[in-house]
Amino acid sequence: MNDRHYFDHAASSPLHPDVAETMLEVMRETVGNASSMHAFGRAARQRINRARDLIAEGLGCEPGELMFTSGGTESDNAAIAGTARARRKQGKTHIITSAVEHHAVLHTCDALEQEGFRVTRLPVDETGRVSVDDVREALTPDTAVVTIMHGNNEVGTIQPIEEIGELTRAAGVPFHVDAVQSLGTEPIDLGRLPVDLMSFSAHKINGPQGVGALYIARGTPFEPLLHGGNQERKRRPGTENVAAIAGFARAFERCVNERETKKLFLDKLRSTWIERLAAIAGEDRIAVNGNPLHRLPHIANISFAGLDTETLLMNLDLAGVAASSGSACTSGSLERSHVLKAMNLPRWRLESAVRFSFGLGNTMEEIELAAQKLKRFCAGLVLPTRRLIQARDQTSTAYRSSCSRHPHRQKSRESEGRMVRRTLAAQRSHSGDGLAVVRRRTRCGMEPRADLRRRCRSYCRRRFGSQVEGCGDRKVFLPKRMR
Ligand SMILES: Cc1ncc(COP(=O)(O)O)c(C=O)c1O
Repeated sequence: MNDRHYFDHAASSPLHPDVAETMLEVMRETVGNASSMHAFGRAARQRINRARDLIAEGLGCEPGELMFTSGGTESDNAAIAGTARARRKQGKTHIITSAVEHHAVLHTCDALEQEGFRVTRLPVDETGRVSVDDVREALTPDTAVVTIMHGNNEVGTIQPIEEIGELTRAAGVPFHVDAVQSLGTEPIDLGRLPVDLMSFSAHKINGPQGVGALYIARGTPFEPLLHGGNQERKRRPGTENVAAIAGFARAFERCVNERETKKLFLDKLRSTWIERLAAIAGEDRIAVNGNPLHRLPHIANISFAGLDTETLLMNLDLAGVAASSGSACTSGSLERSHVLKAMNLPRWRLESAVRFSFGLGNTMEEIELAAQKLKRFCAGLVLPTRRLIQARDQTSTAYRSSCSRHPHRQKSRESEGRMVRRTLAAQRSHSGDGLAVVRRRTRCGMEPRADLRRRCRSYCRRRFGSQVEGCGDRKVFLPKRMR
């Protein structure tokens, strides 16, 4: 593992050996269906009950208020749709959410909008935080449910859920919180928090994938998504995954016991990584996205002036560093993050953001090693500073808005062409083994020289295989020796 560094724990965290051990033991020893009346079934049921008791105790709720699910996505869907549909019977058809939620929440709200619900998507400030006043203003007598996340999965910003919960309690509106990313590092006491529904996922806390839980406070209106047997008090029918549930409980136990030390360590890893990147790329070439105070300790979302996310991710991968854009990857091309867009960040920060997230197995030595590798990669690149990029963004925005359609197209093609030539010239004069990226087609549709494309294509296919196919309509990768 020495030459590879996994800095993508927010996407999925590695299974802890203790968890694997527990799961193996359950898989070996537990036979049968937990709903069966015989001794085998009762033993399986006991494992589930023990897991539920343990997690409920750690969260400060009643075991009966916890429902096991297939993960965070299902918990979010069930919480929002289940509560909204139940509340519709009382004439409540309005949902409040924020623009920076996980897609499991946003797309559920979109689907409910199709069913006739009205959805208010609250804006956030430039650090990704929702304003409590905005929630207060958005609440109406017909609000069915409010859903605002705890810790953001892309930038790590923590939302003021206590203050929002006090408002919703006063208004008598159920409040759902997606705590999938925060469970591992933030203390959660459901006995004290004014929250009615909360989503969790095991694979973000070194538990198995495909299992999670939803807290539903006693008395919260709820309609199940699924119909079938009596499992989970008829709220989530289907034969339980006993081994996964037991693994989830084991992972939860560890995470509660080690939370404070883990949090301090992750925070140290994060700040050291940011310091190293600033030293390598230059202080004025990076920007850290998210809230500097209200944030998760393990996520660092960083923009790099003069680079773009795809190039960065691919080169990081070649250097053995696994990171992520934090945004959806659709048919091989990266969409710009809806979270960063909602934060209203300048274009260069949107287009060059990379999420690094730390966790189990990462060490300080690893951070230094990965930083050394990046240093070698960065040595081959000549990059404009943040200020230059900002000035370019502002000029092109002002220029575009001041032009009429045809002259704009023509002129911006020319200026983009000049930019590509300048970048190439700068990169040509430099040493290092980094790969330069040439825009094959710019925003305005400009194509660089065909011979350049031809020379690159065969090399790229050999080197990157299918990855190049994925980015093929937008980028050509140009190795130094071909420049
Ligand atoms: C904030 C948040 N909510 C929900 C989910 C979905 O969880 P799962 O992968 O368990 O379906 C994720 C996963 O990345 C997440 O980060």
